[in-house]
Amino acid sequence: MNNEPTTYRLPTENTEAEKGTLARAWKSLAPLMAAEKGNIAIAMIAMLFSSVATLLTPVIIGRAVDQYITHGDFRGVLISALVLFVTYLLALFTGFTQIQRMGGVGRRILFKLRNELFTKLQELPIAFFNQNKAGDLISRINNDTDKLNQFFSQALMQFVGNAFMIAGAGIFLVALNWKLGLAALVPALGVLVITQLISGWVKRKNRASLQSLGSMSAEIQESLDNFKVIVAFNRLDYFRTKFKEANDRNYVASVNAGIASNIFNPIYSFASNLGQLIVLAYGIYLIVQGQLTVGLLIGYVLYVLNFYNPLRQLATVWSSLQLALASLDRIQDVLSLSNNMPVIESEEKGDEKMLLEFKDVSFRYPEGKSVLKHVNLHLEQGKTYALVGPTGGGKTTTASLMARLYDPTEGTVYLKGKDIRSYSAQDRAKVIGFILQEPFLFSGTVRDNILYGNDKYKDLSGDALEEVLNHAHLNKLVGRFDDGLATKVSPTGTTMSLGQKQLVAFMRAVLREPELLILDEATANIDTVTEELLEETLALLPSTTTKVIIAHRLNTIESADEIFFVNGESITEAGSFDHAVEMLMHGKRQS
Ligand SMILES: Nc1ncnc2c1ncn2[C@@H]1O[C@H](COP(=O)(O)OP(=O)(O)OP(=O)(O)O)[C@@H](O)[C@H]1O
Ligand SMILES: [Mg+2]
Repeated sequence: MNNEPTTYRLPTENTEAEKGTLARAWKSLAPLMAAEKGNIAIAMIAMLFSSVATLLTPVIIGRAVDQYITHGDFRGVLISALVLFVTYLLALFTGFTQIQRMGGVGRRILFKLRNELFTKLQELPIAFFNQNKAGDLISRINNDTDKLNQFFSQALMQFVGNAFMIAGAGIFLVALNWKLGLAALVPALGVLVITQLISGWVKRKNRASLQSLGSMSAEIQESLDNFKVIVAFNRLDYFRTKFKEANDRNYVASVNAGIASNIFNPIYSFASNLGQLIVLAYGIYLIVQGQLTVGLLIGYVLYVLNFYNPLRQLATVWSSLQLALASLDRIQDVLSLSNNMPVIESEEKGDEKMLLEFKDVSFRYPEGKSVLKHVNLHLEQGKTYALVGPTGGGKTTTASLMARLYDPTEGTVYLKGKDIRSYSAQDRAKVIGFILQEPFLFSGTVRDNILYGNDKYKDLSGDALEEVLNHAHLNKLVGRFDDGLATKVSPTGTTMSLGQKQLVAFMRAVLREPELLILDEATANIDTVTEELLEETLALLPSTTTKVIIAHRLNTIESADEIFFVNGESITEAGSFDHAVEMLMHGKRQS
């Protein structure tokens, strides 16, 4: 097997994808809208009614002027006013229906996209999280999806409604008097050309603004994560400067995006005024010539407004569409990634007598250096192995490959004679218990944490659990916590010492009774008395349990059946304990 380490770095610069064509927008948005067909259809029909109502009013007013007002027909005026009132009511009701329907659509799309993104994040391999900043991901899940929500709940209907109004008003304008109509439409042609020319630029500015928002939240997250270190090293000013830079960048980017989004407004206003001016001047000329009535001219001016107002709104909505598309791009950057560590069918068989086997395994981190090269390794059932070696030698990496946190770039790892890639994540977790160098605890209690993911014991009552713990000799370890099993674990795990966290992780792994137990520096932060307790517990594990222990402290590995020295891209059998010590002292590997 040969697989290049996949790069999971999300683009944080503008990419080719920013061409905001309608066709592309449609392709991205259509699947989201498919599930909401019914609601969108109802909203569309409501919108049609409200547009027709709005479009009818100028005719009604024009007629009222020509037929009733100029002839002093008061009853006719009253009836016209009543008809107008009814059309306004219709517009009110249909407008409300639109808002109500589309608001729901926006929320549901937001909800669905956030779910999809989060599910995708859970599918992605660890490499993805190594290569991307959490803050930027959070920004994609929160801000970008919300931009789409805004588009759907507000902009989409305005977009369609305005387009419809423009078309309707345009038709009325030309149909009532084609010369006057065409004259009124000339300025519109100019703004359309301008819009076409600058909309790519608008979208670019918007994307840049979203990206800078993403990197700012990444910056915030990083300094929050490292706050203790920052204070301890008195580097507040350093992070303040970095944050200020990110904030400044975001400020400039969002000012630019704001200008870009609103630049259409004055242009469209100007076109609207120009249109009205043309209609008035030309219309009065036509009246003088006897080709037009006053009522018709009033109706005309209203249609010009009905044409240009939606056009101006369309410009704003167009920016909102550009923003939504930029957001959608950033969301799809994530959604389009696929896990390069799928469960595969593999007929290849390793040595079935071995619990775990490395066959010609090479590994390097994506964008990193090579850590292992053509390594072969056999772990027998029930034996204890120690991995030793200098810092950065590759011990944690080797252990990660054993638990398939990564796939080798070359070669195969076999678990119980089968390609480790053919196990589902769940089955793999049943066989392998891994105590990480940096244990991770969830907020809750110690009890929640040690029973996490443990199907066998998760529903045990207090007494029954006590018994299990006694049996596994874990009860003394529980005694290391002030409130025993009920001890609270804070959301960030900061209320516990590192050693206590390692104890919890240790109990969690042991209670699952894995066939392979990997301890990465699991005892590095634990006092010697507690460490003896840990060893007692380990000794009580079934004799079939295979243990891989990574430790800098040599006394912890004395009892190992075999010691491996990990350094310089290779793993070497150290033979005896004394030889291992010698190798460590000299920091070199056996030839
Ligand atoms: N996520 C990563 N991306 C890129 N390189 C990495 C990553 N993790 C580790 N490395 C590199 O791989 C090498 C091996 O690291 P590893 O963590 O396996 O060492 P180790 O033997 O466990 O060290 P220690 O004793 O300090 O825990 C190091 O040079 C390290 O810089
Ligand atoms: Mg390590």
